[in-house]
Amino acid sequence: MAYMELHLLAGGGGGTVYHCRACDKPTGAYIALDGRVRLIAALRQPVVMKVALESDDDTRAEARTLKLLAHPHVTAVLGVFSGPMMTAEGEVDVVGMLMPLADEPLSAVWSRGTDPRRLLVHLASGLAHIHSLQYIHGDLHIGNVLRFKDQWKLCDIGGFVVGVATRCMQLGTPYWSRSPEVAEHLAEVERIVGGSDAGRKPRLRARQAAAAAVRESARTRVALRHAIRIPAAPEMDVWALGSLVYTVATRLHWLGPPPSVDSYGWSTHPIEPELEAHDAARRSTKQRLRAVSSLGELGPLIVSCLHPSGRPTAGTVERLARV
Ligand SMILES: Nc1ncnc2c1ncn2[C@@H]1O[C@H](COP(=O)(O)OP(=O)(O)OP(=O)(O)O)[C@@H](O)[C@H]1O
Ligand SMILES: [Mg+2]
Repeated sequence: MAYMELHLLAGGGGGTVYHCRACDKPTGAYIALDGRVRLIAALRQPVVMKVALESDDDTRAEARTLKLLAHPHVTAVLGVFSGPMMTAEGEVDVVGMLMPLADEPLSAVWSRGTDPRRLLVHLASGLAHIHSLQYIHGDLHIGNVLRFKDQWKLCDIGGFVVGVATRCMQLGTPYWSRSPEVAEHLAEVERIVGGSDAGRKPRLRARQAAAAAVRESARTRVALRHAIRIPAAPEMDVWALGSLVYTVATRLHWLGPPPSVDSYGWSTHPIEPELEAHDAARRSTKQRLRAVSSLGELGPLIVSCLHPSGRPTAGTVERLARV
């Protein structure tokens, strides 16, 4: 009997990622391969499996999205497994998405430095493809970029449809990939619902979102945050791309050191400090870029990605970064 042994690589909000290895006598967590031809074939190369409970539908949706968005700068998906996984705690029914094992995630190397131009070209190319199919990534940050040989690829793609009202809480990670317009929208609706908006003239969209949020559920701050929506837009990814490349090229976090907010703490974390960080970063970007020689000619392009409005498309960023 053949088995697939699962070794923990990383655990996140969307699932647990395991490095998988074929073996005859498994230890720890494993999956029995018994006749599972596609899984056995996949194990001929180093693979990982992103595993979630069977009751969680997101993994299948993520696999479908990745297949649809297949591109040289998007992580490939080799298949989906569904069935029992044996763990020390017993048997659990899981859904697993098989992917080739990356050499390393960007999060492991960014502080050592990496060629920002190549990173910008590869990621802009992947984003331009995703955007051309009317989807956005939605959470582009250093933890969601992987290196395969000399190629950078996007992973953990939310696959939000352009123009469709999407929960702000899904559009980016605070201080990393959440664009200022999403943070501002969240703050504005919170102010309207909380009644602290006196004297201001809320934008129509924020007013509508506030009414919808109240209708859906505004009993607690967490429920309110989860109800607030904004249309998904490619510019949000372009902002996150600018923020990411700035961070990698300067080895400085774009918005200043992020506060220690774990992924479950965002729902209650106050939004005002994030908005202040956005404002301060926006005011000082040009000066900061002038002082950073590592950015060289990329500086103005990165600044344009971080612009509050009128950002270039990912396709334009790719073209300009190539020259
Ligand atoms: N194909 C891969 N090869 C190597 N490591 C990977 C691979 N896919 C994911 N990882 C590692 O697992 C981590 C989590 O993966 P991913 O971002 O897809 O899951 P997630 O559960 O949505 O995480 P989070 O909620 O933290 O964003 C990545 O940051 C990366 O370090
Ligand atoms: Mg992730």
